[in-house]
Amino acid sequence: MSKITKVVARQVFDSRGNPTIEAEIFVKNLSSSSICPSGASTGTYEAFEKRDKANKKYLGKSVFIPVKYINTVISKKLKNQNIHNQERIDHILIKLDGTKQKKKIGANAILAVSMAAKKLSAKIKKIPLYKNFLVKSNYKLPYPLMNIINGGAHANNRLRIQEFMIRPDRAKSFSESVRMCFIVINNLKKLIKQMGYSTSVGDEGGFAPMINDNESALKLIVKAINLSGFKNGKDISICLDVAANELIKNKKYSIHSKKFISVDKSIQNYLKLIKKYKIKSIEDPFGENDWTAWNKFLSKTQKIQIVGDDLFVTNLERLKVGFLNMSANSILIKLNQIGTVTETLEVIKFAQLIGYKTIISHRSGDSEDSFIADLAVGTNSNQIKTGSLARSERVAKYNQLIRIEEKLGKYSKMNTI
Ligand code: PGA
Ligand code: ZN
Repeated sequence: MSKITKVVARQVFDSRGNPTIEAEIFVKNLSSSSICPSGASTGTYEAFEKRDKANKKYLGKSVFIPVKYINTVISKKLKNQNIHNQERIDHILIKLDGTKQKKKIGANAILAVSMAAKKLSAKIKKIPLYKNFLVKSNYKLPYPLMNIINGGAHANNRLRIQEFMIRPDRAKSFSESVRMCFIVINNLKKLIKQMGYSTSVGDEGGFAPMINDNESALKLIVKAINLSGFKNGKDISICLDVAANELIKNKKYSIHSKKFISVDKSIQNYLKLIKKYKIKSIEDPFGENDWTAWNKFLSKTQKIQIVGDDLFVTNLERLKVGFLNMSANSILIKLNQIGTVTETLEVIKFAQLIGYKTIISHRSGDSEDSFIADLAVGTNSNQIKTGSLARSERVAKYNQLIRIEEKLGKYSKMNTI
């Protein structure tokens, strides 16, 4: 048995320059560390992110209190535990917190420790991290969902939809899927430049031009796909994350323009967009409490992927409600929405059991930690959403998947979409 000797934590910084937690876990002189990411458009039901609100040295954003908790209480509690028993480690952390949304210790502290433990277990077993999850053979690579135009809470423009993504549906390998996106991104950059807009990027590495309306962004992407010699809806598909939680007032939505309109009218507009731009996937089309709207929408869009992010918050209870309500057919998986590796794996297993697609996701505030790339392969997840081909914290995940594909060699296969 490999017994944990100690856990050490420190405050480091995420891709937005905000403080976050890195935990390092030790078994004798061997250690692994992991960094917790952080969202901007967070769901109400997500696990809690603990910060030192009263400490103004970092504008209330520092994480010294949870860091200290790891260095003292957590380190002591996990001492002598078996590093390979992830469920027990996570159970201890969950119990230590004792609240439903991990408000006492903070899910950011818990998750950093949980992920570090998973990594060290793989290191001690001398296996790559992706082999330390659910899948034991026939590993498959996920399709990337690359966020190439950023709007909403991730950019300073006036785009209402938060993420305009492309998915290279016809790619036969992961490296080919990256190449296809690379070509489209470069053509998109050219087009944006020609229009006289800035080609600077948003939080997730996509361009953030000062475009006013969703349709202008969609037209630009279709143009870039065509210019690249690909067929929209066949070789490459457009996928959206509306993040509609941010666009709701009195049960009305301002998704399609500044004006707030009813669910029925919003659905009509969605259907027009889906048809016109051959959209294949829509994430968070409605608010996190609007189960009826989700159900109505799903019944009208059976053929496309409807993804619950803020709706499910990687939470088994919410996924069960959504399943019974027929709200979606896919789930976005974000480790820090729930707070431990074990709970994340439980949600993935259940989602796959009920026939939902699983999409592993980064957060808009992320880091060089590429844990989610291994998680995607190790859980047989269909897709991975980790930004554009820009900003090292996004590219780190793609690079790790390229390495995994190379290691798998002739055994590597793409997943189904
Ligand atoms: P977030 O955005 O990390 O800011 O929540 C990502 C998403 O909504 O999918
Ligand atoms: Zn989302």
